[in-house]
Amino acid sequence: MCGIIGIVGTQPVAERLIDGLKRMEYRGYDSAGICTIHDGALIRRRAEGKLANLAREVAARPAAGEVGIAHTRWATHGAPTEANAHPHATPEVALVHNGIIENFRPLREELRGQGRTFESETDSEVVVHLLSLRIEQGMSPEEAVREVLPMLRGAFALAMAFRQAPDMLIGARLGSPLVVGYGDGETYLGSDALALAPLTQDITYLEEGDWVIVTRDGAQIFDADGNPVERPVTKSGASAAAIEKGNYRHFMQKEIFEQPTVVAQTLRSYVRQLERTVALPQIDFDITRINRITIVACGTSFYAGMVAKYWFETFARVPVDIDVASEFRYRDPVLEPGGLALFISQSGETADTLAALRHCKQAGQTIAVVVNVPTSSMAREADLLLPTHAGPEIGVASTKAFTCQLAVLAALAAHFAVKKGRLSAAEERAIVDHLLEAPACLNAALNHDDDIAAMAHLIAPARDVLYMGRGPDYPLALEGALKLKEISYIHAEGYASGEMKHGPIALIDDLVPVVVLAPSGPLFEKTVSNMQEVRARGGKIVLISDAQGIEEAGEGCLATIEMPKVHPLIAPLVYAVPVQLLAYHVAVAKGTDVDQPRNLAKSVTVE
Ligand code: F6R
Repeated sequence: MCGIIGIVGTQPVAERLIDGLKRMEYRGYDSAGICTIHDGALIRRRAEGKLANLAREVAARPAAGEVGIAHTRWATHGAPTEANAHPHATPEVALVHNGIIENFRPLREELRGQGRTFESETDSEVVVHLLSLRIEQGMSPEEAVREVLPMLRGAFALAMAFRQAPDMLIGARLGSPLVVGYGDGETYLGSDALALAPLTQDITYLEEGDWVIVTRDGAQIFDADGNPVERPVTKSGASAAAIEKGNYRHFMQKEIFEQPTVVAQTLRSYVRQLERTVALPQIDFDITRINRITIVACGTSFYAGMVAKYWFETFARVPVDIDVASEFRYRDPVLEPGGLALFISQSGETADTLAALRHCKQAGQTIAVVVNVPTSSMAREADLLLPTHAGPEIGVASTKAFTCQLAVLAALAAHFAVKKGRLSAAEERAIVDHLLEAPACLNAALNHDDDIAAMAHLIAPARDVLYMGRGPDYPLALEGALKLKEISYIHAEGYASGEMKHGPIALIDDLVPVVVLAPSGPLFEKTVSNMQEVRARGGKIVLISDAQGIEEAGEGCLATIEMPKVHPLIAPLVYAVPVQLLAYHVAVAKGTDVDQPRNLAKSVTVE
């Protein structure tokens, strides 16, 4: 979602601000802007659409100055127009904002009553006026910020520039991340360490409620009560190279192909290869006393949770509830003492998931998180942090984070089972062996890239596509449909194979391809029967199975995609590859914006 960068520099900043915004393009946006301070005035440039439009605007009307703020906006309140683009400004104050000011309506009414006029439909503009009003009345920027921040409800990261203070910026965080970066005689603000990667590795992560005065000499941080505080400076480790495409055409393609490596990397932290046992980080609570697991996540991470439900229940016999985060709190879930609440998130910042985590914490649940960003809000608020080691995921469509989540969740489920006395040492060794086979099987699946690319034209003209699978491959059908719709804009739905005849089969005709996920194994025959029911009604089948499955059921299919023969435990990891590649190649065939699909954002920091 929205990206923020601020520079208190020693050289002109406009170009560097736009460069910084480019590194945050992956978060998703629909307008952008910058504001610099020069010659006693705030200079603002904004543009609708892609950053190229902003760059053209700045080339035509340069923005001089060595101090400035910049923003990519993902529209929430108000259309993605130039008037709604950030920075919002008066002659005294300019600011960029990520998040939502929930009480903006009463604040705006009050400000209108005081004669202020608004240029935009955004919630953010109220903050500009609250600050400006106080500065016009004679307060310093610092005094104004101190007074205004406690008036705001909601979630925000803010970077603010002031006409009368040309050598500083002020940043603030509540609910949305903001980092401070330290350079050589320069200091920066950014939405994340990645945004600042080429500028500095020395980063301070602001804590909830913190605000900060940033000058060339460094940063002075205050907590929510306004008291000066020290926050540690850490080496971010975010490398600029990690956010480059290398030889790949798209980030999504690069990330799909990274999966064997990053899954192996992730597994190294969760299994002991020599002993063939699972090995989790230090757990400070008694697993044997966990009597229920509540899994909460969104989108692709939710589907990883659905697969994990099978594993927890099969291996450990622990009952699992699973909800999408946006619904969870609103059904007033029963959370009994002794429960573990498990949150799964690539970004660790998804607003709905974070809100659900806080809800569970208040209800006395033990909190575990599987996240890909170990410095994220969810990571910081968890009792048990289980990081995936997928590296930065830039493509908006999640791919490698998903398979790494599955790797961690499989190890966690096995660990639960061992601790609960449900798995013998031999069974544990077998699970570990299968998990360790996953990277090679992922490689073998990737070898079918050319075949999948060659058949993409069969799917690209379709208006609707169905996916079906059974057991742990049912969530994969949902994931395949999500991948296809989000990047190719083709309508797609995933169904449990056995559900087809309870309604969806009415959709079948020869214009609706049906992608069937059917690894050979205990559920193969049943899935294939459901597939035959579809075929008998004229359905065009794309069968994804192994050589044996294709031999048995591939005849008469529109196309087949051959996977290596794998143990059912790792089938969800391996079968993720063909559904990702199919969506990718269909999107490329249709010419859509694969890495930044329309309307989507990478890190969804609003509810
Ligand atoms: C789909 C996708 C989204 C995310 C969802 C949750 O490709 O990327 O559905 O999975 O927005 O995001 P995280 O995992 O960051 O909480």
